Amino acid sequence: MLIKTSQPIILDRDKITLQIAKFWDQISEGWRVIWGKHIHHGFYENDQTISHDVAQHNLIIKLTELLTIPNGATILDVGCGMGGSSIFLAEKYQANVTGITLSQKQASIARAQAAKLNNVIFKVEDALALPSIPDNSIDIVWSLESCEQFFDKELFIQQAYRVLKPGGKLMLATWCSDREEYHDSDAKSYQKLCLAFDVPYMPTIEWYRETIIKNNFQVNTILDWSHHVKKSWDIGVSLVNAYSFLKLLKLGGLRGLRFAKQIKLMRDAFIQEKVKYGVFVASKITDSHL
Ligand SMILES: C[S@@+](CC[C@H](N)C(=O)[O-])C[C@H]1O[C@@H](n2cnc3c(N)ncnc32)[C@H](O)[C@@H]1O
Repeated sequence: MLIKTSQPIILDRDKITLQIAKFWDQISEGWRVIWGKHIHHGFYENDQTISHDVAQHNLIIKLTELLTIPNGATILDVGCGMGGSSIFLAEKYQANVTGITLSQKQASIARAQAAKLNNVIFKVEDALALPSIPDNSIDIVWSLESCEQFFDKELFIQQAYRVLKPGGKLMLATWCSDREEYHDSDAKSYQKLCLAFDVPYMPTIEWYRETIIKNNFQVNTILDWSHHVKKSWDIGVSLVNAYSFLKLLKLGGLRGLRFAKQIKLMRDAFIQEKVKYGVFVASKITDSHL
């Protein structure tokens, strides 16, 4: 058995898109109860002992430090979850933020959370098409742990290029594989991991670098934060273990229960360094910049 990490292992785009929307519709409320408003890793310095929500906040701060975000910037938060980053960016930078998710449930939770803000909106829209976002209209495309689930990651990078203003920045933080191909039992483990998280495929950091450059971006930053984030999964496993089977079932239904039981797979993959946490910042280059 051989699997290339740059190609989808789930071949039906419509089916996986629907499945992802349903997955988040089913588990987002339960996630909020168990974990909180953000659906991403935390950032830990060395063996820092901090709560997972502080660590998640720190991850966002670390990412913003890689960008220069002017007050009033126009930001597209692609794969916005329950709006955690969007609301932070709208409040801290008075940014005009549009958050995009596949899940109606997430969009409605995010709208309720942002009810007092008039500079953030949430839409249910596919990142691979972004039909409501005009060309050259965005200062920053923010994609925090959403690209994993995109069926066509290069198409997303091209959409980001389309909607960004010249010189605008793409920030992409995503789970990556440690190699281009897996064989035999490694291929089976990779496949199991992807299916558990509704991830069609997980390319390498190098694949992202090449693909971003190929699509007319200048790469400003590439980082591997695996060792800063992996502790999140230990905390995730302990949090989930604190809940009974029935409680997990009540909070997230059967899919939520299955997901909760499978997070150990991701913890182990980070421990074995098979999954890497890639962070990329890139600027849109146009002819006038060349
Ligand atoms: C792991 S969550 C991350 C959420 C958020 N960025 C955060 O950090 O809290 C993944 C998000 O990507 C979104 N997503 C996945 N595929 C998408 C697609 N094709 N178009 C738009 N959003 C998508 C999901 O709906 C979900 O909101």
